[in-house]
Amino acid sequence: MGRVMDKVALVTGGASGIGLSSALLLAKEGAKVVIADFNVDGAKAAAQDIKSRGGEAVGIFLDAGDENSIKEAIKFTVKQFGTINVLYNNVGSTNLKKDLDVVNMDLDEWDRLMNLNLKSVLLGTRFAIPHMIKAGGGSIINTASMAGFFSDSIRSAYGASKAGVVILTKYIATQYGKNKIRCNAVAPGLILTPAAKNNMTPEVLDIFAKFNALPYHGEPEDIGNTVVFLASDESKFITGQTIQVEGGHYIANPSIADFEDYMKK
Ligand SMILES: NC(=O)c1ccc[n+]([C@@H]2O[C@H](COP(=O)([O-])OP(=O)(O)OC[C@H]3O[C@@H](n4cnc5c(N)ncnc54)[C@H](O)[C@@H]3O)[C@@H](O)[C@H]2O)c1
Repeated sequence: MGRVMDKVALVTGGASGIGLSSALLLAKEGAKVVIADFNVDGAKAAAQDIKSRGGEAVGIFLDAGDENSIKEAIKFTVKQFGTINVLYNNVGSTNLKKDLDVVNMDLDEWDRLMNLNLKSVLLGTRFAIPHMIKAGGGSIINTASMAGFFSDSIRSAYGASKAGVVILTKYIATQYGKNKIRCNAVAPGLILTPAAKNNMTPEVLDIFAKFNALPYHGEPEDIGNTVVFLASDESKFITGQTIQVEGGHYIANPSIADFEDYMKK
């Protein structure tokens, strides 16, 4: 018996990285999964992979920056599998050339990221909730980020949008808890997804490793396993929370790694 047996799950941004790993793990634990992504070929390939292992999945196109496209993805899920029990709002992005410090950042990029990273969570949730109420409850999971808790010299819009995801998660949990709808988020630290690997040189990865409590980097499965837990009834008394999956990167005095170097001298 799988941990999310026969639950119907929609995963946005499911063709790659964290979304892909989550979709595969949800399917492995018995969920029927709709994989929705801008990269529709990737979404279909992931669904095919699941089906070839005996699972149930469909890949569809989604533009998470477009209200109508989100509405259609929820509609499709309910039509395909009869209901929606799990919504994983995972799409998010930034553009490191435009999402800069508050003086120099491109304001169109600010608007784009608020729309794509934050409003998409509101919209997916808004369209899924009536179906979840009908189904007697559900689990909504959002991808936040450690950038929503700690500031940086750039990525102002990304961080603010992800902080918005953290608080929106609590609002949803508060407003629909009595309908047995839980809403939680996962805040990844650095996770070695294709996107992260493409954006980072080995030197940058070393800087991250130096500040992790654990001696390794995060993998997409580390988030996927958390998503399965939050989707399953194992977490039935957990709501409004953001689970930080970050290798202990942010738990200590930030200067500890430099002090250790100093003490070795
Ligand atoms: N990788 C990390 O280190 C990390 C850290 C913190 C938070 N996150 C968050 O995790 C989530 C997933 O990131 P990832 O690293 O797996 O990225 P990824 O690039 O590997 O995957 C993102 C997927 O989203 C899809 N996508 C992009 N824009 C879309 C749109 N408008 N509509 C529909 N699909 C779209 C892409 O096609 C891709 O398949 C994002 O919200 C990101 O902000 C990632």
